[in-house]
Amino acid sequence: NWPASVTIKEVGPRDGLQNEKVFVPTEDKIAWINQMSGTGLKSIEITSFVNPKWIPALADAAEVAKGIERKPGITYSALVPNRQGLERAFEVDVDEAAVFMSASETHNQRNINKSIRVTFPILREVAQEALSAGKSVRGYVSTVFGCPYEGPVSIDEVIRVAETLFEMGIGELSLGDTIGIANPKQVQGVLDILLQRFDAKKLALHFHDTRGTALANILVSMDMGITTFDASVGGLGGCPYAPGASGNVASEDLLYMLDEMGIRTGVNQEKLLSAARFIQEKIGRDLPSRNLQVGSSN
Ligand code: HMG
Ligand code: MG
Repeated sequence: NWPASVTIKEVGPRDGLQNEKVFVPTEDKIAWINQMSGTGLKSIEITSFVNPKWIPALADAAEVAKGIERKPGITYSALVPNRQGLERAFEVDVDEAAVFMSASETHNQRNINKSIRVTFPILREVAQEALSAGKSVRGYVSTVFGCPYEGPVSIDEVIRVAETLFEMGIGELSLGDTIGIANPKQVQGVLDILLQRFDAKKLALHFHDTRGTALANILVSMDMGITTFDASVGGLGGCPYAPGASGNVASEDLLYMLDEMGIRTGVNQEKLLSAARFIQEKIGRDLPSRNLQVGSSN
């Protein structure tokens, strides 16, 4: 029961780099994003307009957004935590504001320094302003499958956050397995419940591959009708406020699997691999991506 096509949303320049010890120079970030714009990807999350004291790796958000070449047909998105972030994003004209919060109280507090209750009106204001300025708004809910501080997360909390974000007018909600803890059976159970309330076309899945279950979780999600997945070139990534969290599923590993299954993405493998090689060289160590390892040993 596989879909004919899938959308890969590239989050490497944001999720991938936010936790990196190495500060990737602005011009390299720009060159990397420009390469990815030529791969056939339709959505690239380019940076974060968060407090640079919290995420120094993305302190050059405005320069990156200003420096890249915008290719028609690609949505250039950025993380926006509050009104101050939205103003910064407006100044450099990003296409989409991605608002984010967690389903678990402690992760929300550690990540954005606020309770869930206090976060709602802040994000509502961001969403309203972005929508009235003609931008699209994406939502993220973290810790859907487990929290690094609280352990299991109740599905009721996920539903409450999801409903509130959809009421704000977000076009799509990305369900985050922040610490890469989910298994296929759990994903099935969670989606069984969520798909009774929300349209599969409005949900994306965001799997970190900490324990090697990301592709299996994606397969189950596709079988249940999900056709949008977040991924990160090279398998870069992790949330700095989620101890032990490692990278997103590698975009090129996901692409390889989809290509071999005959599921269309519009993304070119060779070009995506060369973007992965580029950032691996800039980071200066082997990245987790499996297809990159194949490429270098053959
Ligand atoms: P705060 O410290 O509570 O903010 O931060 P505040 O409103 O009290 O302001 C304090 C200071 O922050 C002030 O500066 C503000 O100007 C500044 P000061 O007067 O002290 O010099 N400030 C800002 N500066 C620049 N841009 C802004 C901004 N807002 C306030 N937008 C805030 C609240 C949310 C900003 C902070 O906690 C923060 O930046 N957190 C970053 C969290 C983050 O980026 N986490 C990683 C991304 S989420 C993720 O990875 C999960 C995801 O991938 C899905 C998944 O895997 O589950 C999406
Ligand atoms: Mg993430």
